[in-house]
Amino acid sequence: MTQYQAIRGMNDILPEQVNTWQFIESALRTLAADYGYKEIRFPVIESLGLFKRTIGEVTDIVEKEMYAFQDRNGDWLALRPEGTAGCVRAAIEHGLLYNQQQKLWYMGPMFRHERPQKGRYRQFFQFGLEAFGYQGPDIDAEILLLTARLWRILGLENQVALQLNSLGSVEARAVYRQQLIQYYEQHLALLDEDSKRRLHSNPLRILDSKNPDMQALNQQAPKLSDCLDTESSQHFARLCSLLDAAKLPYTINPCLVRGLDYYNGTVFEWVTTALGAQGTVCAGGRYNGLVEQLGGKMTPGIGFALGLERLVILVEQFAKPDSSNNADIFIITVGDAAQTTGMVLAEQLRDALPAQKIALNLNEANLKNQMKRADKSGAAIAVILGEEEMQQQSVTIKYLREDKPQQVIAVSALIDFLKQGAANE
Ligand code: HAM
Repeated sequence: MTQYQAIRGMNDILPEQVNTWQFIESALRTLAADYGYKEIRFPVIESLGLFKRTIGEVTDIVEKEMYAFQDRNGDWLALRPEGTAGCVRAAIEHGLLYNQQQKLWYMGPMFRHERPQKGRYRQFFQFGLEAFGYQGPDIDAEILLLTARLWRILGLENQVALQLNSLGSVEARAVYRQQLIQYYEQHLALLDEDSKRRLHSNPLRILDSKNPDMQALNQQAPKLSDCLDTESSQHFARLCSLLDAAKLPYTINPCLVRGLDYYNGTVFEWVTTALGAQGTVCAGGRYNGLVEQLGGKMTPGIGFALGLERLVILVEQFAKPDSSNNADIFIITVGDAAQTTGMVLAEQLRDALPAQKIALNLNEANLKNQMKRADKSGAAIAVILGEEEMQQQSVTIKYLREDKPQQVIAVSALIDFLKQGAANE
């Protein structure tokens, strides 16, 4: 019989890992709400044309990585490779951008047919956040401070570093583009195949090449910062001074151009050395023309997305959170009558101590085996209801992780006793 396996590059997330995911997801939800962002959900499938128009026809994503297909009606659709395009499409479609500012976030699976390796998958999860209607640079700074706060919450502040650049206005970039083409044409023999292919279609992406042989040539290339229009350089200078005032360290990386076409002005990446080749944990920037390009009114936009798998790897390696699903209290019952009492008691404890995880022994077993289960559950306390306890309407409290003597107390006093214990923790 065929043994089915997950599709290459698409991961099952097993219960033991889910704790870390939930820890990160809940930190993200809380943080986004604290900064005034509201959640938006949009489909996993969109028109193929949406991604071609926004991300750009000659980007790696659109050229090589899309899960594109024709559906039964013959319409060309695609699994979303990122969230910004769908978010902007949905916001325009529902009038969310009409004469108003919006701060939105989303979280969910994205799909790119890349070569899988550590930190790079074909289905991966992004958390993304987009702010519409803010010219900045104050919002640019606030978004970067939000991400810096996230690293502190997750315990990763020493693992990631911020790189910044400004791509300038569309016009300034057109001038720069010509300069770059001229420069690389003079050094045609030194270009690798990828760069030759990009020379006339997307020369800025050559700067971003990961090929070590291209580094020297790229370092010598004309700098985008020398071509910046006045407005973009003022915007960038103000952003840097806001970050300086907030004591957020960053490096200006003139080669940072990003792999999607919709950016202008500020772009940034948070990078780590702990993930090998896939070192970008969080990336984004400004896209002031995108809303208009999709048929909305001119609306400035800025945002970022972070890869949850990459964060999970980092958190597991550097900041293992204490977010296990262990029980706190395990109730052991011996005999039918004790089982009945135990079940009622468990519900009462769940009402009275909502912060505690209460586990009740299920599947009858002798005391010894139930004690083993209690130990395995991770609980700190076993509450034992045996025959003797039932006769005396009492319970025995046994400490499973501490060297303390066991105690017998009246059932009626149990809730207060446990509350006291929880308060003293
Ligand atoms: P991106 O740089 O393509 O930007 O992706 C953002 C992040 O998603 C990356 O930094 C990385 O952490 C994660 N990521 C990307 N591809 C993969 C993959 N194959 N496997 C695992 N993780 C991956 C965007 O997607 C833009 N929409 C970001 C943005 C939002 N810009 C403005 N607003």
